Amino acid sequence: MKILGIWGSPRVGGNSEVLLDAFLQGAQEGGGEIEKVALRSLKISPCLEIYKCFKDGDCPIKDDMQELYPKLLSADVVALASPIFFYGLTAQAKAMIDRTQAFWARRYVLKQEFPGENRQGVLLATAATKGKHVFVGARLVTHYFFDAINIRYAAEVLVKQVDEKGAIRKRPEVLAEARELGRRFGQGEQFGKVKVFPVV
Ligand SMILES: Cc1cc2nc3c(=O)[nH]c(=O)nc-3n(C[C@H](O)[C@H](O)[C@H](O)COP(=O)(O)O)c2cc1C
Repeated sequence: MKILGIWGSPRVGGNSEVLLDAFLQGAQEGGGEIEKVALRSLKISPCLEIYKCFKDGDCPIKDDMQELYPKLLSADVVALASPIFFYGLTAQAKAMIDRTQAFWARRYVLKQEFPGENRQGVLLATAATKGKHVFVGARLVTHYFFDAINIRYAAEVLVKQVDEKGAIRKRPEVLAEARELGRRFGQGEQFGKVKVFPVV
């Protein structure tokens, strides 16, 4: 199993990175081949609405997204890790997601064959507060991101009330849960679909 971890926080050693690392550690223990991509280290332009992708399914912007596209196509599992920023994903994660419009175009405009069967997605998110709606925006965007790249939204670990850097280390039960989830994905387990709607 190829497990691609995409980490969207600008803060090195922060809560979402620790959470993703636990997941990836489990995935490796389960026999998965893991890869971690730090969006903070990549130069990814926002979508510029050129619409070339509607013609041929390719994005003409030559930046680091070009190396991420093939990884997104070949992964069996995509784990997106992000803190909540203003009730959504980070700008780094959102820029990457918007650029997958090229894949959306392949699927829905050009109606091309697209890798998808049995591919799964996981959202790993951390937030400082404990509000009922704190993950609503991130879940909804992630649902449509996973749809664009044709993977099933199969699991999520959403951690409230972790704010300062590394606070999540004081929640070993959460990290154990992420690691165990990773292990199951690494072993190739197929999960059902997470019910994102209704979004509250
Ligand atoms: C710009 C910014 C916006 C944030 N917005 C929210 C928010 O809307 N809701 C919330 O609960 N936490 C918010 N937070 C707190 C982070 O989500 C929280 O500290 C998270 O655990 C950070 O994860 P990281 O260490 O991986 O970056 C915000 C933090 C920053 C820097």
